[in-house]
Amino acid sequence: MTLHHSSITDAAIGRIEAAEWLDGPAFTLANAVALPQRLAGTPGKRVRNALHGTWFGHPVHPMLVTVPIGTWTLALGLDTLEALGAKNGRDYGRAADIAIQTGAAGAVAAAAAGLADWQQTHGRSRRVGLAHALVNSTALGLQLASIALRRRGRRREGRLATAAAWGVMFAGAYLGGHLVYRRRQGVDQADRSVEPRDFEPVLSNAELIEGRPRRVEVWDAVEQAKIPVVLVRYRGRIFAMGARCSHMGGPLDEGWLLKGGLVCPWHGSRYDLETGQPLDGPSTCSQPRYDVRLRAGMIEIKRQQEPGAEAVTPDDIEQAARTKDAAEENSAALGRKADEVLFEHHELLRRLFRRIEDMQPDDPQRRDLMRTLASELEIHEHIEDEIFYPAVRPVSEDVSIAYAEHQQLADLLAATLKLPTSSPEFDEYLRALHEAVDHHASSEESSMFIEAQRLGERRLRELGHALELMLEEQRTSRFQRAFRELKISLLAEVGRET
Ligand code: FES
Ligand SMILES: [Fe+2]
Ligand SMILES: [Fe+2]
Repeated sequence: MTLHHSSITDAAIGRIEAAEWLDGPAFTLANAVALPQRLAGTPGKRVRNALHGTWFGHPVHPMLVTVPIGTWTLALGLDTLEALGAKNGRDYGRAADIAIQTGAAGAVAAAAAGLADWQQTHGRSRRVGLAHALVNSTALGLQLASIALRRRGRRREGRLATAAAWGVMFAGAYLGGHLVYRRRQGVDQADRSVEPRDFEPVLSNAELIEGRPRRVEVWDAVEQAKIPVVLVRYRGRIFAMGARCSHMGGPLDEGWLLKGGLVCPWHGSRYDLETGQPLDGPSTCSQPRYDVRLRAGMIEIKRQQEPGAEAVTPDDIEQAARTKDAAEENSAALGRKADEVLFEHHELLRRLFRRIEDMQPDDPQRRDLMRTLASELEIHEHIEDEIFYPAVRPVSEDVSIAYAEHQQLADLLAATLKLPTSSPEFDEYLRALHEAVDHHASSEESSMFIEAQRLGERRLRELGHALELMLEEQRTSRFQRAFRELKISLLAEVGRET
């Protein structure tokens, strides 16, 4: 049996995650760290917020660690130059000393921020966090020893300590990455659904009591999920924000009001009712916000869209449907709609697939037909990327996934082209490519093309016209063809499988 290398690291980390005996010391340490903050009162809270990165909008710990990582790596290189007896080696050594000291200062700051974040973790993450802290403290300890050794003129031992510290730091960084990418510590846990895009009644006005947070839900049809929202009436005004705390998903509707903010019951993040910004950590990231209005005794809410979000609001649709130039009116009258042009091209691609699949493996024409298919697929993706997708982006949320699928189709096409058309692997790849294209084309037809109708008939005919022009140009222009053929030949020949 061969063991995949990641399963070895997984097993090691699994052992740390399961180490319940770490919980006792962890509890003691967390309490010890919390005490001075509690003694210090408000200034203590300020320091803690700064260490989390609450006012900054992101955790600061991952940025502070770049200081020791960078300087200690530099020191390792400078040490090596000195050890190899480079000219002016002593100068390199002195520079290494400064780099190590700078890194040690950065490491202390990073540790303080990390400790603040770690206090608010639980269970397996808390155990991994403790291991991460112990490993990195060892690295810092080794560097401090190195500094002392260098001061006493024992440079060789100092360099060894630094090299060891670098390796230990590397292991610590691995654990840190595990905490973020696998354990999802420090990542935004709020619901970022774009729904509701238009005002939607959620609760009768009479039911919302001053100062009592109240949970309501809205439905997100794309996610197939209920999105919890918390309503708060404060000094007569009504506010709404996402009910899932961005820190770790705590229920804000079970929280309470303090100094004009809504407090999370889990770790005490306090959010500004007006802006959703955290006023107190550990959260570093603002809550999703909603506009509120009253209609016929009902509270209605509408999601405030975040900048850059591909949300589709009635305003977006109206604007996208508005044609740029009224003088183009005549050209709009001719031709087919964009979705019709693309659907027809999808059908062409499907026919090509079926023909290649039906051919005998050793049919000499199989390879040529495969190249024709490759060429048409390229053209299809090109005209969509250039014309259709940018135009439908404001009215359809499918566009970003569609772009991603094009990339995957291109990867799969490249892999298929490299295989000899008579091989069994070719048939396997061709089938996978066929299914990928089918999935992609079908989801365009059943969702994106439907949503594209919001652009209006006239705009769609204009786009259809532009698509047909570009399709024609791609097929007939000598330059375009030569370029495409060269690309397909390169894809097929370079790294060819035999
Ligand atoms: S979940 Fe941690 S503060 Fe809300
Ligand atoms: Fe597409
Ligand atoms: Fe398509």
